[in-house]
Amino acid sequence: MIAFHNVAKSIGDVSIIKGMDLQIEAGELFVLIGPSGCGKTTTMKMINRLIEPSAGRIDINGADISKADPVELRRNIGYVIQQIGLFPHMTIGQNVALVPKLKKMEKAQYEKKVDELLDMVGLEPKVFKDRYPAELSGGQQQRVGVIRAMAADPPIILMDEPFSALDPISREQLQDELVRLQRTIKKTIVFVTHDMDEAIKIADRICIMNNGSVVQLDTPNRLLQRPANEFVADFIGVKRLRKVQELPAQGSKKATLPPRWSIS
Ligand SMILES: Nc1ncnc2c1ncn2[C@@H]1O[C@H](COP(=O)(O)OP(=O)(O)O)[C@@H](O)[C@H]1O
Ligand SMILES: [Mg+2]
Repeated sequence: MIAFHNVAKSIGDVSIIKGMDLQIEAGELFVLIGPSGCGKTTTMKMINRLIEPSAGRIDINGADISKADPVELRRNIGYVIQQIGLFPHMTIGQNVALVPKLKKMEKAQYEKKVDELLDMVGLEPKVFKDRYPAELSGGQQQRVGVIRAMAADPPIILMDEPFSALDPISREQLQDELVRLQRTIKKTIVFVTHDMDEAIKIADRICIMNNGSVVQLDTPNRLLQRPANEFVADFIGVKRLRKVQELPAQGSKKATLPPRWSIS
């Protein structure tokens, strides 16, 4: 559904994304992961045209997005970022209803939607709808950020490290909720993280990036079982690889690595 065709991005003479080819399927939870500065956010922002590629083409459902109206495009792509971005002077209900209103959804319809979504993330509508963002905890605010991106029912949702600023317990709860929500809503979700545990937990497929390129793209299981090279193996971490393959805990680092990795 989202296809990158040889997409590149340079700023000045610095190459940030290098000839990226990707196919993100409809309804999958696709995780982009890699070290800081590898180009995850740039890749994501090219999907909603907050950043324009220097070369190549991105298609959504076969249509070149560079030909679309960027405002219209963004109304059909939910976007969740780490710094929440709820409007402080609007109630939770107003924040969530924002895009549905812009899209001219009828009042009765979006009111119902807002209640449904609040319920889905465990925020009792009667209690939370009329509160202001400052009256919610960080985890509660981020839940609102997530459902706000879903309120207008966009087929695609982009999430850029949405849970990174949360404490570990809230983070795990939100990961669980996202997996549960996704089972119901089945959106195409592109999720950026630098946390491999998070990626393994939530992803249908994981795309590991380094230096503006895709290093490996695979299901969590296959990544763990067959890391393509030393970079991926290091990034996943010997501990996780050992756990998956039930290799002996003793011995040298080399001896604990999977066969394909150690011979390549
Ligand atoms: N506006 C910009 N001007 C110059 N360099 C930039 C700009 N935006 C991002 N970069 C560089 O591009 C690279 C990729 O950035 P980014 O996509 O934000 O990485 P990530 O999200 O993986 O941490 C980084 O090296 C960053 O410094
Ligand atoms: Mg980033």
